[in-house]
Amino acid sequence: MKKQFIAGNWKMNLTIDEARGLARKLCDESVNSGVVDIGVFPAFVFLRDICEILRGSKVYVGAQNMYLEKSGAFTGEISGPMLRDVGCTHVIIGHSERRTIFHETNSMINSKIKAALSCGLKTIFCVGEKQEERDDDKTNEVVGNQLSEGLAGLTSEQIKELTIAYEPVWAIGTGKTATPEQANEVHTFIRNTIRSKYENDTAQSIRIQYGGSVNSKNADDLLGQPEIDGALVGGASLDVKSFLDIVSAAARSS
Ligand code: 13P
Repeated sequence: MKKQFIAGNWKMNLTIDEARGLARKLCDESVNSGVVDIGVFPAFVFLRDICEILRGSKVYVGAQNMYLEKSGAFTGEISGPMLRDVGCTHVIIGHSERRTIFHETNSMINSKIKAALSCGLKTIFCVGEKQEERDDDKTNEVVGNQLSEGLAGLTSEQIKELTIAYEPVWAIGTGKTATPEQANEVHTFIRNTIRSKYENDTAQSIRIQYGGSVNSKNADDLLGQPEIDGALVGGASLDVKSFLDIVSAAARSS
């Protein structure tokens, strides 16, 4: 049985005081958690403080995005080595908001994953279909393309450093969650796709999180599915109680 991984994507939310307060509470309350991996993904400008607060705790800290080059004339961008420098161990790549609002392509995401792994950042790679793609029965085609283009050229050693997050775009921030069966079905497809490209062991060991309106009420049902190994949580991760309730649901399903 894999350890579940519950990650809080704070997106572009919170003030520095709120972010510090949330991190302090998580530090106090999750010190003893060993059965579930927990991570938080604050805005860039809060990372250094949050890394400091959570240093020595069991809570990982990561960024929500990074640029694919290590340094240079890329005004406004942040590199993987910079994230390492302030204490991050993780990064999210290919979130649907990056894809749709900031026009990130599969090939750019592939380069970012390679850049992240090459500087030792564990990566959460997001995939997921839009509502109209699901309506047109194109979920597997879209997610299949995101996987094959996003993972192009990666070795099975590199794949082992990844977590995949299945986040159907229509379920993000809408309160409209995929049913546990719908999510489990796509997770099975994702694992089979990995199996067809890499060894069975790699496919079995990779963690696949579900994301999209996960909350303390639906977490038990979602995390109880055999192919769901954790959650990437947006809104509900901004409140310490609801986030830790999701962590507890993950512990129950472990
Ligand atoms: P919500 O949990 O707010 O739907 O956001 C999900 C998400 O995008 C996490 O990355």
